[in-house]
Amino acid sequence: MKNIAIFASGSGSNFQAIVDAVKAGGLHVNIKMVVCDRPGAFVIERAKSNGMPHFIFSAKDYDSKEAFECAILKQLRSHDVEYIVLAGYMRLIGPTLLTEFPGRIINIHPSLLPSFPGKDAIGQALAAGVNVSGVTIHFVDEGMDTGPIIAQQIIDIDEHETKESLQGKIHQVEHQFYPAELQKLLGDYA
Ligand code: GRF
Repeated sequence: MKNIAIFASGSGSNFQAIVDAVKAGGLHVNIKMVVCDRPGAFVIERAKSNGMPHFIFSAKDYDSKEAFECAILKQLRSHDVEYIVLAGYMRLIGPTLLTEFPGRIINIHPSLLPSFPGKDAIGQALAAGVNVSGVTIHFVDEGMDTGPIIAQQIIDIDEHETKESLQGKIHQVEHQFYPAELQKLLGDYA
């Protein structure tokens, strides 16, 4: 089975969905560790309660992105990680990790890329007044949400949609969609 690390900065509901899919037998990968750049993030509690090795860091404790990515790389190597799965990791991946994992870093983004890249994709979609948005799973390159698209799912935006309601619909889709696409890409019986 392929060895993956999950990178997250926030609540980690997508991390949990991936763990649950592995436990339920629908996703055949080894989750070797969690990497988190926010010491207070709830994903850390989830990692702990799932008995998952984790590496937590603060960018401000390092001189540069290169320095903290070297520290991450050391951890990834020691756990034999082959693929990086980003699940709400709020940093641009730098050359250190991109060079080490060419075509082996995957991200999920809450819009139909190339529309609404970067932060607050949900707010951007609502502000633009579009009546559909969605979720994109893509390979990571050096740009902001610009890498080759793997799969997309469309979500309707209703007339009275709020940020919270759209966020809820997006999460609901993501929690099925990400594990299923990861299985197609990386799963042992794909
Ligand atoms: C998800 O909506 C994902 O698309 C985006 O960040 C959010 C993370 O949510 N990149 P969670 O931490 O997995 O709950």
